[in-house]
Amino acid sequence: MPEQFDYRSAPDPDMLGPGPEPQPSRRGFLFWLGAGINAIVAVAIAIPVVGYLLAPWKSGGSQKWVSLGTIDSFPEGQTRLGEYRNPFTTPWDGYTANTPCWVRRQTGESFTVFAINCTHLGCPVRWFPESSLFMCPCHGGVYYADGSHAAGPPPRGLYTYETRIKNGTLEIKAGRLPTLQQTP
Ligand code: FES
Repeated sequence: MPEQFDYRSAPDPDMLGPGPEPQPSRRGFLFWLGAGINAIVAVAIAIPVVGYLLAPWKSGGSQKWVSLGTIDSFPEGQTRLGEYRNPFTTPWDGYTANTPCWVRRQTGESFTVFAINCTHLGCPVRWFPESSLFMCPCHGGVYYADGSHAAGPPPRGLYTYETRIKNGTLEIKAGRLPTLQQTP
């Protein structure tokens, strides 16, 4: 006859103390691993996006005042080629950061500075003092001396920079590339 188990002699569970620590389950481990990887990917995506959104505040906007030289270097009533260094460059931009523009001095401290790029497809326009016209070598775009559109495919006149005179120096606001809606 099998031996009967005597429940009265079984130890009281409250007297046994805490059992062994529960081991983490595989499902829980994979859940937290996936959550961690997702968090890393989210941060990696967010950093450039946030940087892009904050860049205008951080750098004071996408434009800066740059000098084109003393106003005496631009004779009255003439249009001369100017050049400035793009204020938003990296060290390896080298020579390509030097940006030409056309500077027209009407009288005294009255200046108009034109972007050199044609408003059609961006070719550099040239100034012809003999005819007082800007001409584009690519598709025959023509502009008057004040930069307004004269002929050819360009949809509008030349872009102009904002200018100011500071301590006898002509400065323009440069940096942002022009679009059909805005001046540079
Ligand atoms: S790029 Fe100047 S006319 Fe086309």
